Amino acid sequence: MRPKAQCFWSHTIFTMKKLALFASGSGSNFQAIAEACQKGTIQAEIALLVCDNANAFVIERAKEFHIPTFTFNPKQYASKELFETEIVNRLQEAQVDVVCLAGYMRIVGPTLLKAYQGRMLNIHPSLLPSFKGAHAIDDAFNFGVKVFGVTVHLIDDTIDGGVILMQRAFEYYGTSRDEVEAEIHKIEHQLFPEAINRFLEQ
Ligand code: GRF
Repeated sequence: MRPKAQCFWSHTIFTMKKLALFASGSGSNFQAIAEACQKGTIQAEIALLVCDNANAFVIERAKEFHIPTFTFNPKQYASKELFETEIVNRLQEAQVDVVCLAGYMRIVGPTLLKAYQGRMLNIHPSLLPSFKGAHAIDDAFNFGVKVFGVTVHLIDDTIDGGVILMQRAFEYYGTSRDEVEAEIHKIEHQLFPEAINRFLEQ
């Protein structure tokens, strides 16, 4: 996904690819991606934050970066199809090329998938295909694994089962779940920007 080239007089202008980030909570991954866009280590701009939780701290982070936010309450829609239709409209209005799910705690439905299949990335806090689902860190820790990690993958119609783009692992022999979580987040904040950039360069 190289930048779109436009000819303008005798110059060639490269327009930045546009990302939308989806998040439901703290948004530390949002922050890492926004900083990478600002520094130019990701060759793209964040055109929109989509958030399903009006109290999420990620909204404050988006304000700091002057990034527009679409906040919605899923309970105010009669179906997933209806709120995803509205999301797709917002994404198209903002001319979004690629969607990055950064702690979006919802399963993507067919409406959104149809519009962005092959262009929707997710970060998951385990080495997939192990420990799918919403409690991956707890599940891995409680199982007693000694190699933990992070996966960036494409979204498809399975749960955490799409094509894997990048993974990074680390060994841990201690007993603190908090230490594992801290290391996972540290890796996520490096890996997700790298994976996005690599995807955009394909
Ligand atoms: C991350 O651990 C991510 O892997 C998972 O949700 C968490 C989001 O954290 N999908 P944050 O909101 O980016 O801090």
